[in-house]
Parts: sequence; structure tokens; C-alpha cells
Amino acid sequence: MIAFLKDKKIVLGVCGGIAAYKSAELLRILVKQGASVKVILTENAKAFAGPLTFEALSGQPVCTSLFDERGDGSIRHIEWAEEAHAVIIAPATANMIGKLANGIADDALSTFMLAVTSPKIICPSMNTSMYENRAVQRNLDILEGDEYMVVEPDSGELACGVTGAGRLPAPEYIADRLVKRLQPKDLNRKRVVVTAGPTLEPIDPVRFISNHSSGKMGYAIARAAEYRGADVILVSGSTSLSAPAGVLMASVKTADEMANAVFENMENADIIIKVAAVADYKPSEPVDYKIKKTSDNLELQLDKNIDILKEIGRRKKDQFLVGFAAETHDLDSNSRKKMEEKNLDMIVGNLVGGSSSGFEADTNKVTFYFNDGKKESLPVLEKDEVAHILLDRIIEKVAAKG
Ligand SMILES: Cc1cc2nc3c(=O)[nH]c(=O)nc-3n(C[C@H](O)[C@H](O)[C@H](O)COP(=O)(O)O)c2cc1C
Repeated sequence: MIAFLKDKKIVLGVCGGIAAYKSAELLRILVKQGASVKVILTENAKAFAGPLTFEALSGQPVCTSLFDERGDGSIRHIEWAEEAHAVIIAPATANMIGKLANGIADDALSTFMLAVTSPKIICPSMNTSMYENRAVQRNLDILEGDEYMVVEPDSGELACGVTGAGRLPAPEYIADRLVKRLQPKDLNRKRVVVTAGPTLEPIDPVRFISNHSSGKMGYAIARAAEYRGADVILVSGSTSLSAPAGVLMASVKTADEMANAVFENMENADIIIKVAAVADYKPSEPVDYKIKKTSDNLELQLDKNIDILKEIGRRKKDQFLVGFAAETHDLDSNSRKKMEEKNLDMIVGNLVGGSSSGFEADTNKVTFYFNDGKKESLPVLEKDEVAHILLDRIIEKVAAKG
């Protein structure tokens, strides 16, 4: 995983809400991703989580009061505000949301927030009636207008026994949204369709033909594009991966279902990246009963599946179309041939079969082939890194096309 927060200075504000205990886990994740994190606890937060926990996890002194300055002439809340690359308040109480929406500065956190000029992220968490209260909603609207990124609470059973909206989302999700906030938005509002994973072609109700695609490369691309501001639709075959945040999922099983989902969404797309490993063949006559082990041999008749990539290449207008070629040999010639046959703007070739590249690995070794004849080989990299470099190249090529 890329250490997206490496060398980033983050300030974490914690308010007096029941979810304050989750901020310790959030802090741990941010530190693990390379951030240097300073924590400000409100006076009331101390009733829910002690400063010592945050001090130990951040390795830095924790600020709990406006007036516990260090006696060296520095004004801490201004200094921290000036050096922060981003600020995140999790959990944010109804009280703090109200204060920030109205520019009130009567404690360390609210005073500090008025001095912050870097990106601000706020994670409301409270009882459902409090969250739905018109004053709270009005204050959140004001904060959004003031360019706060508001991370909406989850719905579910709350500590107070009520079921509804107001639960602080998982710390991993909050950290992910912080990473997104800090990424350049060079794909802002671009519509990107990504396909990922394998297709499953049924033989009978319990068996199918498929392949080893894990979906990791396609999911990494969808996540990277979403970070960079794109509206992403991820057409995914069966995988064990969680949907990337902020991405619209279209879950499919067979090649035919994948084809329909892609054709439905390609019209409005700016960029189409086809990473999925679509089965080339499907059983001619899948049966609706479990085939019994009665004979020593079983013959399976297969029909060719639709060539989705070729069909997109045929239908495409202004869309930038990228294919993937997973090959076991002759990567250069096979990739270039596929690019030409399928009318692609670019193809990503990778050799499959090794442990550090291809289907199930977290890393990949790829070569980009462009339709002007140029090529670029990358070293073995994390799939997240490959995804970002691929998007860099697509953005350059789209800009060059005008
Ligand atoms: C047990 C308990 C749990 C609370 N949980 C929340 C909460 O989850 N969200 C919230 O907005 N307020 C909650 N409150 C109310 C806040 O603690 C209260 O509004 C306080 O003034 C917030 O102070 P602060 O915003 O300075 O941290 C809770 C209060 C108590 C006694």
C-alpha cells in the first residue's frame, strides 16, 4: 500500500462524543500511513478518552487547553494551524459543529479551527434525533459551504440504543476520505468506467468456468480515479474485495452480464479501462440441475463469449479506451496486436504466472503500449502505484488529444 500520508502533518481534533474511543484507532492508522499527527482534545472529550492514549499513539504532546502553553513564547494553536497539511475532527459533536458554523472560538479546538487554512474534514457522530435536528443540519450545510469535507455518519445501532444515522464510520474509511481530500483532482467530474475481476460461466447450478483474476488491479484503478475526482463506475465480476469508497458498483457474474453493464454505461464515459479477465468461452448449454458423477468422462461443449473489448472499440466515439493484456509469452507482439485489433488508445501488458506480477499478487510489473507506437516499462510496483501512473499517462494522452 502506498504511504499516501508520508511526511504529512495532520491535526486530529477529538470532541466529547461516545465515539471518541474510535479516534485512537484512527490516529494509529494515520501514523501507520506515514503522517505526523498532533491531537487536540476538547475538555469534554477527556471524559471519554484520556490524553495519555493519544500521546502514546502519536508520540507527540496532546493539546487539551488553550492556556496550557509551553512558556516559550509560542502560540500553539496558531503554530499548529500554520503547519498542518489537513485537519480532521472525529468525532465532531453537535456542539462543535454549531460553534464552527458560527465562528465561535471559546476553547482550544474551536479557536485553532478559525486559524486553519488547509483542508478541513469533519465527521459528525451523535444520536439520530440530534443528527437530524434542523439546527445541526443547517450548521453542517454552512460548514460544507465553507469548504469543509463532511464525512456522513453511518446508519445502524447507536450506543444510545436507537437505530438510525449518527454512527461514526470505520476509522479506515475516515482515513481513506482524508487521503482522497489530499489528492490532486486532475480527473474532476470525468466519467470513468472500470471493469475488474473474473467472469463466472455456469456449467450447472453449483459449478462454473472462471479464472484466477482477483480484481485487485481494477479495484486499485477505480480507487485511484475516485481519489482524483472522477465519477467512477466499477463493473465487477465476483471478487472478495470491498467496494472502494465513493465508487458506483455494478456487480455481474457472466461475460454477457458484464457486456450489458459496460454497454449501458459507456455512452457517457470519458475514459474506459477494461481490466476484467473475461472468460473467452462459456458452456453451450448450462443445465439447471446438478450434473451427477455417473460416467468416467464428461464432454463439455463451449461457445465463444462476446468480445466485450472489441465491441467497445467498435462503438467508441471520443472515449479514451484502455485494455489490459495478461500474457504468458511474447508480451510485446501480443499486446500490440490486441491494441490494433480492438481499436484501443492504449494497452497495459503484464506477464502472468509469477508471484510478483499478475492475477492474485499485490504488485504488478507492467508495460504500457500507446497507439502512437511508444511504450513504457515500469518496474515491479504496488498495484495502487501502477494505477496512479496509468492515470497520469491517460490524463497526458487525453490532454494531448485535445
Ligand atoms: C454519555 C454522553 C455521550 C455523549 N455523546 C455525544 C455524541 O455522541 N455526540 C454529540 O454530539 N454529543 C454527545 N454528548 C454531548 C456532548 O458531550 C456535549 O454536547 C458537550 O458539550 C460536547 O462538548 P465538546 O463539543 O466541547 O466536546 C454526549 C454526552 C454524554 C453525557
